[in-house]
Amino acid sequence: MKLTIFTDEPALPEARLIAGEARRRGIETRILAPWDVSLPPTQELESDVYYIGSNILNRVSALELLHRLQILRVFDEMGVVVNPVESILNYSKGHLTLKLRSLGLPHPETLITENVEMAYEFAARLLDSGRNVVLKPLCRGRGVGVVMLDRIRSRRDLLQFLTWYNRVHGQGVFYLQEYIPNRGYDIRCFIIDGEVVGREKRSNPGDFRYNVSLGARAEAFTEPIYDELAMEVAEAVGLKIAGIDILPGLDGRAYILEANCYPGFTALMEATGIPIHERIVDYLQSLKR
Ligand SMILES: Nc1ncnc2c1ncn2[C@@H]1O[C@H](COP(=O)(O)OP(=O)(O)O)[C@@H](O)[C@H]1O
Ligand SMILES: [Mg+2]
Repeated sequence: MKLTIFTDEPALPEARLIAGEARRRGIETRILAPWDVSLPPTQELESDVYYIGSNILNRVSALELLHRLQILRVFDEMGVVVNPVESILNYSKGHLTLKLRSLGLPHPETLITENVEMAYEFAARLLDSGRNVVLKPLCRGRGVGVVMLDRIRSRRDLLQFLTWYNRVHGQGVFYLQEYIPNRGYDIRCFIIDGEVVGREKRSNPGDFRYNVSLGARAEAFTEPIYDELAMEVAEAVGLKIAGIDILPGLDGRAYILEANCYPGFTALMEATGIPIHERIVDYLQSLKR
């Protein structure tokens, strides 16, 4: 079997763990970056399975995005792509919000728009009703650019802040969300092929964002109470490998915050001792056509 790990972060620990495990099993494995590829494809690009190890579409220019999309489609014709190409193309916080809404699953009140006036009105309405507002890039990760509107003095400040945010983080799209008062932690369920294979509880006394990359502490979470919910979400967005983040609110509801297409797992492995990379290679091996 031939495995290609396709990533624009070739030094990513997760990519190296998967590559190491696959090679130990005798699988011919290479780590390929987008800039290693040229089209039309040659035989050299052929592989049985293509594992997309990082967010190769949403942190690049629109033209790079189109080109990388083309690469994914070529891979899809030659072998099996993980996650499925369709789910990678749809991957954004906006897509998740609409999916959760259509399924009636608990999700904070959210607005997605290019229009600064609509963003302003949504934020002002929530702030007026005593709620807080979180702004996020449409597709980024690791808590980067996730901010809370908690130091807004006036309506003029709000408009000024939204304008600044759009320039620095939003890149033309506002994703605004009601802040959910919570118990000080969230739960990440790691899913492979429809099953929860590990769970962690993340907390961060120094930040409202419970991202491990921002200093949050991760510990094992052994209760399967959110498994069904997490599996339903992963299926809805079409992800075979996913990190589903669930935030238990003070109101007793469990809110789905995120369905991650490229979930990191080193912190999860450290917290639980579960060899996630081995489980991923098990799954990739099962896919050989
Ligand atoms: N609506 C919200 N209410 C409360 N906390 C939130 C909300 N949205 C995000 N957070 C906090 O911020 C963190 C990062 O947000 P998330 O949507 O997961 O973005 P990212 O993709 O950058 O990880 C979450 O793990 C959570 O701790
Ligand atoms: Mg997150």
